[in-house]
Amino acid sequence: MLSVEDNELLTRVTGDAPMGRVLRSFWLPFLFSREVEAPGPPLRVRLFGEDLIAFRTENGGVALVGERCPHRRASLYFGRNEEGGIRCLYHGWKFDGSGSCVDMPSEPDHSSFKSKVGIAAYICEERCGVVWTYMGPNQSAPPPLPRLEWMALPESHHVGGKRVQPTNWAQALEGEIDQSHVSFVHSRLDAGRDGSKPNVDRIRAVDRHPHFEVVEMPYGHCIAAGRNTPEGQKYWRITQQLLPTFAMTGPYGPDPKRMWRSWVPIDDENVLVLGLQFHPRRPLTDEERAAALERSSVWNISAKFKAEPSSKAFGSWYANATLENDYFQDREAQRTSTFSGIPEFWAQDAAMQVSMGTVCDRSQEHLGTSDLAIISMRKRLLAAAKAMQADGTIPPESMQPDAYAVRSDAVILAPDLSWFEATKERRLVIAGTNPDCPS
Ligand code: FES
Ligand SMILES: [Fe+2]
Repeated sequence: MLSVEDNELLTRVTGDAPMGRVLRSFWLPFLFSREVEAPGPPLRVRLFGEDLIAFRTENGGVALVGERCPHRRASLYFGRNEEGGIRCLYHGWKFDGSGSCVDMPSEPDHSSFKSKVGIAAYICEERCGVVWTYMGPNQSAPPPLPRLEWMALPESHHVGGKRVQPTNWAQALEGEIDQSHVSFVHSRLDAGRDGSKPNVDRIRAVDRHPHFEVVEMPYGHCIAAGRNTPEGQKYWRITQQLLPTFAMTGPYGPDPKRMWRSWVPIDDENVLVLGLQFHPRRPLTDEERAAALERSSVWNISAKFKAEPSSKAFGSWYANATLENDYFQDREAQRTSTFSGIPEFWAQDAAMQVSMGTVCDRSQEHLGTSDLAIISMRKRLLAAAKAMQADGTIPPESMQPDAYAVRSDAVILAPDLSWFEATKERRLVIAGTNPDCPS
């Protein structure tokens, strides 16, 4: 439970909100490179409540600038992507990727007015097919990009997806690090039966109250959920929570594919999740790509549940399953096959998170022992927001790119062994290695 004041501090990210300033201190992903064509039309983007447009410049880079023309506020989305910048359709003012007005043909030749106007602009970088932006105050000296494992791999090694969820970002990120819910909302009714596969489903069905341990790390938290196996051992699934809004849940099986997701605030009431599935040592096959998208395991929405695309911000990434249609919950399926009756993995999460209210009122909650990770995450983010509010402290995590070269993990250990010690090496990114996990 949080006070009403702390709930506001945790969740609000638009305007000058301290948490918004904390999150903007980090690089955040928001587009796939393939979405921004060269020299193609601009795309609408909305982040932290700011309406923006993204377009590819003639240099091949991605520009991210304010959507409204400073002349009479027409939308630059309709503009012409020309050599040297985007030109407003209304009276022809042109802006380069740094937001400077570089041409003002509606004013006399001798006018210097163009040097006095400009639009917001945020730097962008691309890594492994993903476009990142830094929206913090140090546009000329941004922090380094985090050294996440997939960012050093070729694009062939990953498949990505996105989804817009109509909730505040914080309750969505909390869902990602909440390992306790997998025994329920994502479970099948036959999961606990003898011989049922996969094995980890059986473990989750037998022990539905995992023991949580959380360790503070330079990048965030290492979160271990321990469950007793029917054989008397301990199954530990280790989630990495990385500031500002990233998470990596534990993988499954031998030589596993791995997951990474980021929850980026569109505004106070909408969040964009951008997720990747990757293999550290080889390209993904066409079948693996198709399977990842169809099973929506990268937080993409499979074709059946996609809403009609539109040109609004992130308009290709909305679902047609919503709270209004009860996420297509099937009560017969709930009675006979799945715990939730809600089709699609992501929709099971979304139904729970959206049903909390657009901005969850945490002053009304009652947290238990299984919520330790959520409590730890809130404490750390609130401390960062309070430090930002007090004296503009930049979160130190944003300046430690090497700390982000970590992996999530899953292991079965003897009950008396320390998961933290036993997985120390396995949680490091060591090129050419990829430890097996239980499945
Ligand atoms: S409104 Fe853009 S040039 Fe006039
Ligand atoms: Fe979930």
